[in-house]
Amino acid sequence: MVGCGYWGPLLVRNLRSLPQCKLTAICDASASRLKHLQSLYPEVEGLQDYNQLLDSKADGIVIATPVKHHFALAKASLLAGKHTFIEKPMAASSAECEELIDIAERQGLVLMVDHTFLYSSAVEKISEIVKAGDIGEIRYINSRRLNLGLFQKDINVAWDLAPHDISIILHILGEAPTVVNCQGNAHVTPHIQDVTNMSLTFGDRHFATIQSSWLEPRKVREMTIVGTRRMIVYDDLKPREQIKVFDVRVDRPPHYDTFAEFQYSYHYGDSYIPHIQQSEPLKAVCEHFLNCIETGAKPLSGGPEGLELVRILEAASLSLKCHGTPISLAHPSHDGGDNSTGAPSDYAFVPVNA
Ligand SMILES: NC(=O)c1ccc[n+]([C@@H]2O[C@H](COP(=O)([O-])OP(=O)(O)OC[C@H]3O[C@@H](n4cnc5c(N)ncnc54)[C@H](O)[C@@H]3O)[C@@H](O)[C@H]2O)c1
Repeated sequence: MVGCGYWGPLLVRNLRSLPQCKLTAICDASASRLKHLQSLYPEVEGLQDYNQLLDSKADGIVIATPVKHHFALAKASLLAGKHTFIEKPMAASSAECEELIDIAERQGLVLMVDHTFLYSSAVEKISEIVKAGDIGEIRYINSRRLNLGLFQKDINVAWDLAPHDISIILHILGEAPTVVNCQGNAHVTPHIQDVTNMSLTFGDRHFATIQSSWLEPRKVREMTIVGTRRMIVYDDLKPREQIKVFDVRVDRPPHYDTFAEFQYSYHYGDSYIPHIQQSEPLKAVCEHFLNCIETGAKPLSGGPEGLELVRILEAASLSLKCHGTPISLAHPSHDGGDNSTGAPSDYAFVPVNA
């Protein structure tokens, strides 16, 4: 385990709770963090030097440091032959993600990214409802993740909070966005946006909006999924009843001759609350990493999924710089045109109206 600040200790607790895992060493650059963790887990070795972790006999390394360190630590881990788990977002650029995927493939190692919510019972249930066709075709998704802080020094609020919403949305829709746009403002730390509004367009079929904020008096973790037949509201803060399915919809009349005949038809049916087996998502995340190591299975949130998410964040950053200009994520081979911008990845980032 490397990085034991705010999030690392939660991974430590979960990893230690799994019988198939033996946590042998904790590494942190900060002596005081190490001292604290060692007071809790005296039997686990404490290391300030990451090279000692690389030289150890550990099968895998779990990285929970600030994002700017993910790439260097993960690259060294993979090159040392360790299965590697990285906190979200996978790295600071898509070029870094691609290099990590390449190394993991060449070395035959598991590379997994913590897209925590994909392992939550609530998101699993939502996917199940959507796949069963209960809500019809998804029209759009709206997600809000707001609270006061925790302010980050190296990334803006979109890179910090939106990975959760993006990973859930991509998982539910099962497709990647074609266009991203993002607006926001840095109110507290110069150049680090603490409030952002991102939109994802999925061809001409779906649309999603994501509001992220460190400047909000209330903690909000809410997502609305609007289907043609029903709508789902997912409130992650509710201890029970996290998901509610509303049997409501609005239809336009299929055809009408005069304005007087034109009537929207509003449907109000019963709402229901699906039962969800409560469990800690982070425990499922850790279990999944261990299972992938044991069985060689591909992680649900592996390198490619981590890369996809970072590409969206990069496009959002570019859009922020261009005051909300829509940025196309089209793959050159998908639209047939050569719209390469010399971006480091295979994908082109192109202002839509360029
Ligand atoms: N999945 C989630 O829901 C979730 C929630 C919070 C944070 N995170 C992610 O976890 C990661 C860590 O976030 P945090 O809030 O715990 O950060 P943090 O700043 O609180 O802690 C990071 C720790 O890493 C240590 N560190 C930094 N560089 C190091 C290095 N090169 N070698 C060894 N130790 C080093 C620091 O001393 C610190 O103790 C980030 O990637 C963040 O996005 C994920």
